Amino acid sequence: MCGIVGYIGNKFVDSVLVVGLERLEYRGYDSAGIATISSGELFVCKKKGKLKALNDCLKEAGLGGNIGIGHTRWATHGEPSEINAHPHTDCKNEIAVVHNGIIENYQTLKEDLVARGHFFKSETDTEVIPHLIEENISEGLETAVRKAVAKIKGSFSICVISESEPDKIITAKFGSPLVIGLGKNENFIASDVTAILPHTKQVIVLNDGEIGIVSEEKITVTTPWGDTINKEVETVSWKAEDIEKGNYQFFMQKEIFEQPKIIETVISKKVTAGNIITLEEMNLSNNYLAKVKRIIIQACGTSWHAGLIGKYWLEKYAHIHTEVDVSSEYRYRNPIAEGDTLMLAISQSGETADTLAGIREGKSKFIKVLSIVNVVKSTIARESDGIIPIMAGPEIGVASTKAFTAQLTALYLFALQLGKLNYTISDTEAKNKLEGLIEIPKIMNAVLKRQDEIIKLSEKYYQKKNFIFLGRGINYPNALEGALKLKEISYIHSTGYPAGEFKHGPIALICEDTPVICLAPKDELYIKMISNIEEVKARKGKIISIATQGDTRIQSLSEDVFFIPECHEDISPIVTVLPLQLLAYHIAVKLGFDVDKPRNLAKSVTVE
Ligand code: F6R
Repeated sequence: MCGIVGYIGNKFVDSVLVVGLERLEYRGYDSAGIATISSGELFVCKKKGKLKALNDCLKEAGLGGNIGIGHTRWATHGEPSEINAHPHTDCKNEIAVVHNGIIENYQTLKEDLVARGHFFKSETDTEVIPHLIEENISEGLETAVRKAVAKIKGSFSICVISESEPDKIITAKFGSPLVIGLGKNENFIASDVTAILPHTKQVIVLNDGEIGIVSEEKITVTTPWGDTINKEVETVSWKAEDIEKGNYQFFMQKEIFEQPKIIETVISKKVTAGNIITLEEMNLSNNYLAKVKRIIIQACGTSWHAGLIGKYWLEKYAHIHTEVDVSSEYRYRNPIAEGDTLMLAISQSGETADTLAGIREGKSKFIKVLSIVNVVKSTIARESDGIIPIMAGPEIGVASTKAFTAQLTALYLFALQLGKLNYTISDTEAKNKLEGLIEIPKIMNAVLKRQDEIIKLSEKYYQKKNFIFLGRGINYPNALEGALKLKEISYIHSTGYPAGEFKHGPIALICEDTPVICLAPKDELYIKMISNIEEVKARKGKIISIATQGDTRIQSLSEDVFFIPECHEDISPIVTVLPLQLLAYHIAVKLGFDVDKPRNLAKSVTVE
């Protein structure tokens, strides 16, 4: 987590850095700071809290110069405070460093540095870096940085500036993401492309172990030993307006409303005339895919919920045994993986540390890895054998919404594709299912148009202290997703359960004051779901149902109902999740929270 930026050029350095940090604030917002060099002198300005506090202090400080680095923090070592905010400096305040990641051996390094007379100001792991650089600065900044990173263990990316060489930024990637943006007589560095998109679309993506030496005119990328690497300059396809909020109050709301268009785009790019599914970036031959006997899906959070739904489709359409794990468990359980196993990793950001570690675990067992990713230049995308890009555009709100439904669409297409290859689904069946999917954006739009009904529900229930979400079969993972959305942005305790399991304990939680949100579209488990709803009602639970239009039976059992239009039952999760996203959003707005930046969270979880 944490976001880092760097700039060298003729623009106002502090404003370029601040705009970059605004774009990266989703990666952490416990504190923010920047360092610049002006007239040969290093200036540092840092503040606890969100960027606004830093902005106020920058107005007073009036920093100048044409080189600078910036940081927005998600605290790991040391509480959120001004002292612990980055940039961190050496003993003489001549070298400044911003850092994203974790230094595992910082305690030993710090003890050694202190023994050698270095003076530390903060409790962070980061501060060892400027002191390590300081020890060899007489050999030049580049060499000093190389020698420092050689001593550090962990996962990190850094930007460094020094009064001794005010014409360059040294940047290094050892685990955490980093891109260099190319301009005319100016260059940029950032944790991800969204920070530099207003300035350039030309980027160099650094790989692990690469060090960049960035001046106004020139970018050199080397190995840790100093050998030059020829790097490809890539063009980013995202547009600058993709990272604007437009008329929406929060990015999350904008992203919820973007979903129908995204699904339409995914379908139009991946389903060609005659209902042929083309997943060309997959890079796996039909011959290979037809031999796959087992699939392991591993992912975190919302992406894991998408994986849980994907399992239903893969087993139903392709008859392939599918396991779904949260990555942080998968990587440590010594999983069995053989040649006929395919790993599916799902990640919006493509940088989640646990998911990446799961991929490396799979690759160490020589199985192929296919990743469903949004950020196609991410580490996960680059380390996988192939990818299915979900084409959702930049997702800025910390709570994932549009990536989820785009992941589901990709999983659905992949399951149909495998089913066709395995002859477990006929061409006619696949065609019917695709026709059902093509209808989905229209249905989604119809649901989103009824946002007002959800606003009314949020007004009625926003003061409740506990919520329960229930679903069965393919809609059970959406019970988990609905509960996650609500708790992460409104801080209300909420829990999701498979409705049939509820009576085995959690039903004890039911009381008159607890809203129970029941996902009950007309599907093959509808009758079973009705029985579970009756059980809750018998215990005076307040039922809010998400049900299929025209369902009078459920209306009689529920306190409130939100109706969704009829759709093919297998793909109903792409629709039933919409009212859950909107409910969480409007409850959080009603409670006055910063929906896009919920407390304690960061969008891209690059630490274990
Ligand atoms: C929840 C949320 C997180 C992410 C999780 C995985 O709204 O956004 O649970 O889904 O951190 O992130 P990615 O998909 O980037 O690997």
